[in-house]
Amino acid sequence: MANVVVVGSQWGDEGKGKIVDWLSERADVVVRFQGGHNAGHTLVIDGVSYKLSLLPSGVVRPGKLSVIGNGVVFDPHAFVAELARLEELGVRVTPDCLKIAENTALILSLHRELDGYREDAASNSGTKIGTTRRGIGPAYEDKVGRRAIRVMDLANLDTLPAKIDRLLTHHNALRRGLGHPEVGGDAILNELSSVADRILPFADRTWKILDERRRAGERILFEGAQGTLLDIDHGTYPFVTSSNTVAGQAASGSGLGPGAIGYVLGITKAYTTRVGEGPFPTEDTGEIGEFLGTRGHEFGVVTGRKRRCGWFDAVLVRQAVSVNGINGIALTKLDVLDGLAEIKVCTGYRLDGETIDYLPASQGAQARVEPIYETLEGWQETTRGARSWSELPAQAVKYVRYIEELIGAPVALLSTSPERDDTILVTDPFHD
Ligand code: GDP
Ligand code: IMO
Ligand code: MG
Repeated sequence: MANVVVVGSQWGDEGKGKIVDWLSERADVVVRFQGGHNAGHTLVIDGVSYKLSLLPSGVVRPGKLSVIGNGVVFDPHAFVAELARLEELGVRVTPDCLKIAENTALILSLHRELDGYREDAASNSGTKIGTTRRGIGPAYEDKVGRRAIRVMDLANLDTLPAKIDRLLTHHNALRRGLGHPEVGGDAILNELSSVADRILPFADRTWKILDERRRAGERILFEGAQGTLLDIDHGTYPFVTSSNTVAGQAASGSGLGPGAIGYVLGITKAYTTRVGEGPFPTEDTGEIGEFLGTRGHEFGVVTGRKRRCGWFDAVLVRQAVSVNGINGIALTKLDVLDGLAEIKVCTGYRLDGETIDYLPASQGAQARVEPIYETLEGWQETTRGARSWSELPAQAVKYVRYIEELIGAPVALLSTSPERDDTILVTDPFHD
């Protein structure tokens, strides 16, 4: 059975939510395996827009099982708030349709605060990352530091104070160092006990459920958050998120062995965007960047920040194809390029007088690379809402074919508007 992993192949916001929602019709189970509520995934169904951060995009489809895997960092308060927002839109998420891995590390208010304190301090020294300030990095630090509070700990309120004390020894030292007040154990205990009853009905041994579902021949869709260039190892370090975002993480972040992964689908925007600080070789701060941002509504779902925009960078996506083992891509937002006289594509970089075909690992070199562009003729017709190849102008098809050739992966799906059904299927990733 070809279970499918969806990953972002750029700096996030490629349209993963729309594609996961579209694919979830063919799936039985949808699993988030990394990140947290730093993600902002938008689904548009019959004109209604759903913005999901922590919940898998499958929750809007009745009859599907959604799973928050152990690789996620989980903010219980953000979770409760997201459930309430969905309920207002008529989507009721119950413990029958959503399971949270009991060994998932929690994000607490002190993580969110620390994220903010560090970003504020870094603003003055010029070393800001531009995080979403959701506490993602500090929560992963505590997980790897073996002092995290995890979902199952909420069931043992009597053993929690000792765990909280251990965590606070670490955090209060940091807070003192940054010139902020210490936190008391009671405040954290109250914070956790106030949500425990809302969370625990969803907690389960998800590794076991997933294994059983897989053995029963059900189709599993793994929903990645962020993108390959934000991966803690493979991204533009240190301007990255704090998890592995690549396809390999789907296995360890859910508790299924790597053999469960059949097809890796890279979600790829027809141009490039990035939110937050860090290198961005094809960034255009002029007219084209403004055009792409306005036409593409490039504003962050989570923080509302304006996304930086530029031409398609084939070097980055080719590298993403490699490090994820991408079998095919879903090319999104082709319609945003409608009406341009010409379209540029970055095919390589110049670095210190040499031509290279990869993104160098060092921060200094990443900041110095200069894009080498090929220019293609644009198209004047609209592609928006196209649902078959025959509706696409010849130049648009040429653009798609050129991208496939440069990145070394075929287009499996093509998206031409935010709407669920404005999607062209070329190859079904679930096909055996
Ligand atoms: P994600 O984080 O990868 O799920 O992407 P976001 O939801 O943050 O950002 C993608 C944005 O583009 C959302 O507003 C989507 O509704 C929208 N979108 C997705 N696919 C298309 C498309 O093919 N065309 C257009 N115009 N918008 C799209
Ligand atoms: P989706 O899933 C785009 C970026 C932040 C910042 C960096 C670190 O919607 O594609 P963090 O809060 O994770 O410590 O911030 O990562 N970032 C994203 N950028 N899309 C996302 O998610 C992102 N999640 C985090 O802007 O640069
Ligand atoms: Mg997003």
